[in-house]
Amino acid sequence: MRKSMPHENHKGARMKNIAVFASGKGSNFGAIVRAAKKGIFKANLALLVCDNPKALVLGKAKRAAVKAVLVKREDFSSKSDFENNIIQHLEENKIDLIVMAGFMRILSAELVNRFRNKIINIHPALLPSFKGSRGIKDAFLYGVKVTGVTVHFVDELMDHGPIILQKEIKIEESDTLETLEAKIHKVEHKLYPQAIALFVEGKLRIEGRKVRISAL
Ligand code: GRF
Repeated sequence: MRKSMPHENHKGARMKNIAVFASGKGSNFGAIVRAAKKGIFKANLALLVCDNPKALVLGKAKRAAVKAVLVKREDFSSKSDFENNIIQHLEENKIDLIVMAGFMRILSAELVNRFRNKIINIHPALLPSFKGSRGIKDAFLYGVKVTGVTVHFVDELMDHGPIILQKEIKIEESDTLETLEAKIHKVEHKLYPQAIALFVEGKLRIEGRKVRISAL
């Protein structure tokens, strides 16, 4: 059997190209880089798209030798020009999957449509509860005893698309917001690479709101 090339999977097919979108610390980006190295999913981490020049994730991409593009909203007169520039980068790099990891902007319906069922997001709560940018804090302050992490496809609505994976996390009496945040991030860093693996292996099938996962 011919040895597979670095850009191919074991069946000789072209490996999928992933773009991660992030605006901040990038702990999920770091976890995705480590998972790719360990072979938890077999795909090329082809691009980081970042909109914030001060984001720590940019340094992480540099250290990991992942190509990064900084696309600042203020450099464009409209949201659609901004997104068209991002789309150009995605097309140049033949991106098959967009992984949203703390990208602090809502994607327009046009971009979502263009990459329909090829964009996934991670949310630090059990959707449909506690949508929005303060999912961990809102769940903690509400007093729920169980929260968790959700990975889902992105559609036109915020934190809304079909759910791929969820993992519950108990909130104990002794938990503070900080300990809960640490627990959530630990789970995120494991769950997101698993969801990416399912996508790149073609194991996800969307039926309405349900995501069917074929046997591993
Ligand atoms: C994560 O908690 C994720 O669930 C949310 O944004 C946060 C990003 O954190 N969407 P990091 O930048 O990956 O550390």
